[in-house]
Amino acid sequence: MEHKELMRLACEAREKAYAPYSHFAVGAALLTKDGKVYTGCNIENAAYSPTNCAERTAFFKAVSEGEREFAAIAVTGGPAGKAPAEKCTPCGVCRQVMAEFCGDDFLILLGNAETLTIHSLGDLLPHSFSL
Ligand code: THU
Repeated sequence: MEHKELMRLACEAREKAYAPYSHFAVGAALLTKDGKVYTGCNIENAAYSPTNCAERTAFFKAVSEGEREFAAIAVTGGPAGKAPAEKCTPCGVCRQVMAEFCGDDFLILLGNAETLTIHSLGDLLPHSFSL
């Protein structure tokens, strides 16, 4: 799948964001190595800490369906109701979740439908923790 198409799916997923507290809407689209896509949005909570980021929503959906092999994730985010920002970088917790299932060569596409930059998990989370 084209990187741009994966980002387009992340933008679509962002429209489902549930973010009544931060008003910051994020979407993600996770591509498996065999070409399937699982999307996710951030889901906030009045108690704050149960909030789930868009990236983890996508990962948990995919892993709970039996997926284990991932090629790339597209992430887009910004203030709700506005066009997504140029870059919304995954938080540390999401990077660690990615590292649970992906190697340093896993691709992380950041941006919006117009422009995107390509990063690797190894770049964004060097020396990640593992057992
Ligand atoms: N958020 C994500 O969904 N992904 C990120 O990469 C960064 C932050 C969410 C969490 C919270 O709902 C809102 O954005 C503001 O932090």
